[in-house]
Amino acid sequence: MKILIYPDEILAAKAQPVTELNDRLLKLVEDMFETMYKAKGIGLAANQVGVLQQVVIMDLGQRGEDAKPDPIVLINPVITASEGEICDVEGCLSVPDYSEKVKRAQRIQVMAYDQRGKEIRMEAEGLLARCIQHELDHLNGICFVERLSPLKRAFFRKKWSKMSDKG
Ligand code: NI
Repeated sequence: MKILIYPDEILAAKAQPVTELNDRLLKLVEDMFETMYKAKGIGLAANQVGVLQQVVIMDLGQRGEDAKPDPIVLINPVITASEGEICDVEGCLSVPDYSEKVKRAQRIQVMAYDQRGKEIRMEAEGLLARCIQHELDHLNGICFVERLSPLKRAFFRKKWSKMSDKG
């Protein structure tokens, strides 16, 4: 699948809840994993591949020498609680070659379903919590660069327009 690059109107649109568990959903999840692993990402939201459904995949376990896959699928995810605040570096497959610090909640609780309809309840902190918040933003049509402080956002716009010009 092709990963959409910021700014794209589908990246700015809200994803709809998944209402049916079927082979199409399983295929979507499978294709998204293939796309994410190929791009060496740790998270991908369906918006990023042009599908406006509330589907997020992640794998924080596949990096390094002794790579061990740890796939996570979140369908219709909702953050049910959050606490703390922490600022750390983020990047996004839809904003290649750019990373910047973003403020996020430190710890979150999430409710979702997996691709077979099994309910998932998880608590997350650190990189996992950051990744979940980043991907859920995508489902709401928000890219992480829109979470930057006004000054950093202005710098981003300038840099991004130059990079886009180069094609
Ligand atoms: Ni992203």
